[in-house]
Amino acid sequence: MKNKIIVALDVPEVSEALAMAKKLQHSVGVMKVGLELFTAAGPDVVRELRAMGCNVFLDLKMHDIPNTVAKSVESAVKLGASFLTVHACGGAAMLQSASDAAHGSSLQLLAVTVLTSLTDKDLLQLGIPDKPADRVHRLAKLAVECNVRGLVCSPEEVSAMRSEYPAGVVLVTPGIRPEGSAMNDQKRAATPREAIQRGSDYIVIGRPITAAADPVAAAEAIAASLRQSPLKA
Ligand code: C5P
Repeated sequence: MKNKIIVALDVPEVSEALAMAKKLQHSVGVMKVGLELFTAAGPDVVRELRAMGCNVFLDLKMHDIPNTVAKSVESAVKLGASFLTVHACGGAAMLQSASDAAHGSSLQLLAVTVLTSLTDKDLLQLGIPDKPADRVHRLAKLAVECNVRGLVCSPEEVSAMRSEYPAGVVLVTPGIRPEGSAMNDQKRAATPREAIQRGSDYIVIGRPITAAADPVAAAEAIAASLRQSPLKA
């Protein structure tokens, strides 16, 4: 996929999601369907997006027993999703089952390591003594060893992940704010260019595009900022 922009369709109504996708489909590479939209609209929204010719990222952060996750990955393959998230902390057997189920398809699995909403204190409360950054590395290694060759990582982690996995692992980075746009609830955001320069393959952007007065102009401006040199192709 040439266009590195993934837009988060974080809306509760299928009509709103499809209207936004229609506007943006020639300006961004991928439409992200998250828990909010999927819970409200179900798999039909994915079918409709596919019928429009959109690439779809199903951000369902799966975490269950290996058999259930494998069957769910098969369903995502049938829906024609391009990306699907699974929680790395589901463990080795779950990750391997997910990767076996996606094998031979065009679905790229992405492992979520530590949610950025979790602090040291939250991990301790869960009985996990690791610092969040150490746990990110541990879980990323586990995911890659289990053949889940894609990672969701924050702008703070992406450089280290790219050094650790120089090739063959897809890095997807949310927490992006174009220069001058509102931070909303993102605390340590990077600009689109910074994220790509640090090694992201794809950037996830929601409100800076979807809440803009002109979403197409906002997406085109971000795409133009990525075309400026010096950026790797
Ligand atoms: O609107 P905004 O650009 O903040 O949306 C970011 C998208 O990326 C949302 O769909 C959100 O769920 C997701 N995300 C995030 N931060 C993370 C992981 C995922 O913002 N650490």
